[in-house]
Amino acid sequence: MKAGFAPFRVSPPLWLLAELTYACPLQCPYCSNPLAFARHRAELDTANWLRVLREARALGACQLGFSGGEPLTRSDLEVLIAEARRLGYYSNLITSGIGMDARRVAALRNAGLDHIQISFQASEPVLNDYLAGTQAFAHKLEMARQVKANGFPMVLCFVIHRHNIEQIELFCELASRLGADYVELANTQYHGWAWLNRQALLPSRAQVEQAEATAHRCQQRYASSMKILYVVADYFEQRPKACVNGWGSVFLDIAPDGTALPCHSAGELPGLSFPNVRNASLAEIWRDSAAFNRFRGFDWMREPCLSCPEKHKDFGGCRCQAYLFTGDPSNADPVCAKSPEHQRVVALANAAGNTPARPIRFRNSCNSRIYHGIPK
Ligand code: FES
Repeated sequence: MKAGFAPFRVSPPLWLLAELTYACPLQCPYCSNPLAFARHRAELDTANWLRVLREARALGACQLGFSGGEPLTRSDLEVLIAEARRLGYYSNLITSGIGMDARRVAALRNAGLDHIQISFQASEPVLNDYLAGTQAFAHKLEMARQVKANGFPMVLCFVIHRHNIEQIELFCELASRLGADYVELANTQYHGWAWLNRQALLPSRAQVEQAEATAHRCQQRYASSMKILYVVADYFEQRPKACVNGWGSVFLDIAPDGTALPCHSAGELPGLSFPNVRNASLAEIWRDSAAFNRFRGFDWMREPCLSCPEKHKDFGGCRCQAYLFTGDPSNADPVCAKSPEHQRVVALANAAGNTPARPIRFRNSCNSRIYHGIPK
């Protein structure tokens, strides 16, 4: 903790995200994985992941997400799920559905998995498979049916951008036909590959307004059968989101190589050295590491955040977004209209409707080897 800062009460990491691998058969251009994922060190082995699950649970974690990359590429997934069940987690698999078949869905159920979230790129095969970079749509449909047949609660997630934002109604119809319990209509969060592709993906203001109105109509239409969550398009807002509910507050992300992060994009921030679970216990990492304490609480804030009455609600917004737009993660999130840098976000959002979409750079290991840091 920085000298002179008031001590801050550290709460438990309630939500553990286990990013088991960066391997993925898909090439989504909005992926939040680091651009240089292909350079990352070896993945944690099963024994280390089991230790992470135990230590996080002892710290108070109760919600566990298995994510990636594609977590189904790990052959020890069922072993980890079984341990999660034994420890008393509520576990969720966040997947593209590729890497599953009927037998594996049943095996995941038998291992004790609680919940499955399948992502779709579009409501029909042509656009879906173009954005995924591979034939995936038909298999996703079949896996969604298997998920329901095995009695799982099912979330279908649709990441929204300018190429599919006009399909909101079709997304909800598809989800309803498949028997989804929850639908996440999530405007792209521009980190990692999405930031690289921001000029190719950002929708226009008119598209965003239309999408929001359609989403609200769908929420009413399907209210009795499924819950529809609409994640707003940050860049068109006046106030920032409470990213990860505040840095080092409830969210703990473990990257495939064991690096512990307060959010999935934090590894890209300059001047911070993130600890690795191979070298330290999770208790030390969570409570004492300089990186996790860097943006905890309020004392690190500058104006306009420091004296803002809304700081208890938004915690200054997103540190990674502040860095991407201003070059300094200590600044206010420029999505906030009070930020002196807010015009940068407005300019990007306004330009989205007036410029032709740029070519998409797909997330794959060949492209990944090009990048060493985040291109401005
Ligand atoms: Fe890193 Fe928001 S994504 S703090």
